[in-house]
Amino acid sequence: MQLTAPLDMHLHLRDGDMLQNIAKASAQTFSGAIIMPNLVPPVSTKEEVIAYKERILAAIGDEKFTPYMTLFFKPSYDKAFLESLRDEITAIKLYPAGITTNSEGGVSGFDVEELRPTLEAMSELNIPLCVHGETNGFVMDREAEFVSIYERLANAFPKLKIIMEHITTKESVKALDKHENLYATITIHHLLLTLDDVAGGMLQPHLFCKPIAKRPEDREALLKVALEAHPKVMFGSDSAPHPKHAKENCGCAAGVFTAPIALQLLTELFEKHHALNNIQAFVSGNAQKIYGITPRTKTIILEKKPFTVPAIYNDVVPMYANETIAYSIKDIQHG
Ligand code: DOR
Ligand code: ZN
Repeated sequence: MQLTAPLDMHLHLRDGDMLQNIAKASAQTFSGAIIMPNLVPPVSTKEEVIAYKERILAAIGDEKFTPYMTLFFKPSYDKAFLESLRDEITAIKLYPAGITTNSEGGVSGFDVEELRPTLEAMSELNIPLCVHGETNGFVMDREAEFVSIYERLANAFPKLKIIMEHITTKESVKALDKHENLYATITIHHLLLTLDDVAGGMLQPHLFCKPIAKRPEDREALLKVALEAHPKVMFGSDSAPHPKHAKENCGCAAGVFTAPIALQLLTELFEKHHALNNIQAFVSGNAQKIYGITPRTKTIILEKKPFTVPAIYNDVVPMYANETIAYSIKDIQHG
């Protein structure tokens, strides 16, 4: 079983010691990834984008991996500014203010006229908009409530590519087919988990993330479009490491660390559902078409051999720590 040029279209690489600790987990097994800008402070100037990219490249050392950089969305960006950094970024990430980790500087209210100058400029410059789509409503309804905002943006800016990040609901899946310019990323944990796995028994802090895993019928809807490699969906891990103490804490940080096992779990899942023919499109082909990118060549050879997930990567506990999964990475070939 092999995967060619896998892409992670939604990844948190963090900064400082954490970046040093976790960057290689993605850089070894993926050809590239869309890098989230929610640092403290968020990545919101050209200089910050360039400097962050350099820190990432330094952290991955000799690994062959392309960090596709993003900018933290602000409604005040004008066309001249965006033009000046067009070559440095692959997308812009919009967070509703305060909805998740380090999103305080995000957007409040979604007044189309207020957002128009930036979104129009992005549309003209062909810069995709990645969105964390949750309202501040009841936690299980936040994403479904946000669909009307997605639709408003999709209608107001028909040429703007809008990527609904880490979708978790059947409502988001439905929206994909209603609007030509809506796309989505899907994580491996949302394909595997429901809220029951997070909070149905003993609370599982390492499975807690935003948006939270939803109902079985939501997971079914996600599985359907992922397994058929629906051309508007692509893999984005949303691998979001936090130190152990921040997860195993009264006040658990949101984020699931999946980078080291993402491709193994995806292979196991697609095999289980007899959909291995579609895995390549889901982990690379669709993203290449949607974003218009050509990733560097890298081939990941997987074998069906049990792999026991390490308990911890320095101070980060991965998903399925100490559990055994069905696939292992056998070899990685370059060129
Ligand atoms: O669970 C999450 N963690 N969701 C997000 O949107 C942000 C991420 C993080 O940065 O930790
Ligand atoms: Zn994220």
